[in-house]
Amino acid sequence: MLQLESELRCGVADLTASFRYDVMEGLGLASKAIPARWLYDRRGSALFEAITLLPEYYPTRTERSILASAVSEISALAGPGRAVVEFGSGSSAKTRLLLTETEPSAYVPIDISGEFLREVATGLSHAFPGLPIYPTEADFTYPFSLPGEIASTARLGFFPGSTIGNLTVSAAVDLLRAMAATLGTGSMLLIGIDRIKDQDVLLPAYDDTQGLTAAFNLNLLHRINRELGGSIPLSAFRHVARWNAAESRIEMHLEATRDVGFEVDGREFFMSNGETIHTENSFKYGRRDAFVLLQAGGWNPIADWTDDQERFSVILAEQRPARAAP
Ligand code: AVJ
Repeated sequence: MLQLESELRCGVADLTASFRYDVMEGLGLASKAIPARWLYDRRGSALFEAITLLPEYYPTRTERSILASAVSEISALAGPGRAVVEFGSGSSAKTRLLLTETEPSAYVPIDISGEFLREVATGLSHAFPGLPIYPTEADFTYPFSLPGEIASTARLGFFPGSTIGNLTVSAAVDLLRAMAATLGTGSMLLIGIDRIKDQDVLLPAYDDTQGLTAAFNLNLLHRINRELGGSIPLSAFRHVARWNAAESRIEMHLEATRDVGFEVDGREFFMSNGETIHTENSFKYGRRDAFVLLQAGGWNPIADWTDDQERFSVILAEQRPARAAP
């Protein structure tokens, strides 16, 4: 029961304007940086899907196996009839598991890539013929409203894939609080968060031998050239992944391999050899770190699951203030 395309809550013009704004601001900084969400255009989303299948990229398959073994417990804790609201739904691969087991009353996938969202929603509507699906194209880091159709339904937020790790800690707390406001009292949140681990495991996950992560990162430059009239020579950049121990995060950068000048939207930029554009952070959290993060964001963890190597956490939280002591 897929809602029609015309009913999609869109803001494509707004998205292009904010892409331009973020790129022009970001390239103007002393340390150049562009928010990671712009990596996910149609090609970027497809490349990311390919990354999730790489042997080096452990998060996706680890999270899926945790979910597979935890889903009956999750569904017992959440109860039937909730609207499942997925933030950054991407391919919705893990969602099938959740939708099959939890007896939801509706599914609301939210994604910034509208085209991809529509394709995936169509696929899901065939797999779950009786389930109302309300695809919502939005940048969920900004305030937006849920479809009116689920106004009086209890909600289960679903935020898998450690997407929360893209945000700085303070932005993550802001987002969790915004999700709490959007989902409302009595809602629950099922979230996947990547754990801190050895660099020998972390770094290859973000710099694979096939070069898919490099293509994913460099695709941002393609997108700037195409959508913002850029003249960035891609051959003058290479993909770099670094572990920033002090911040407990993987960083992706695009590094200039020579002095290079280019134009974007009629403005000139120069970068010297070795200078980088910081394109993504992927923060990692210990079990207790993740609990504190959720609590700061207005969510109380009620159960959590991990794999045998403790590479990844899946946490179920509810929106109810912790009992204040004394
Ligand atoms: C989608 C943000 C979870 O940080 O692991 C994968 C993105 N970037 N490889 C991650 C990503 C490079 C991914 N998240």
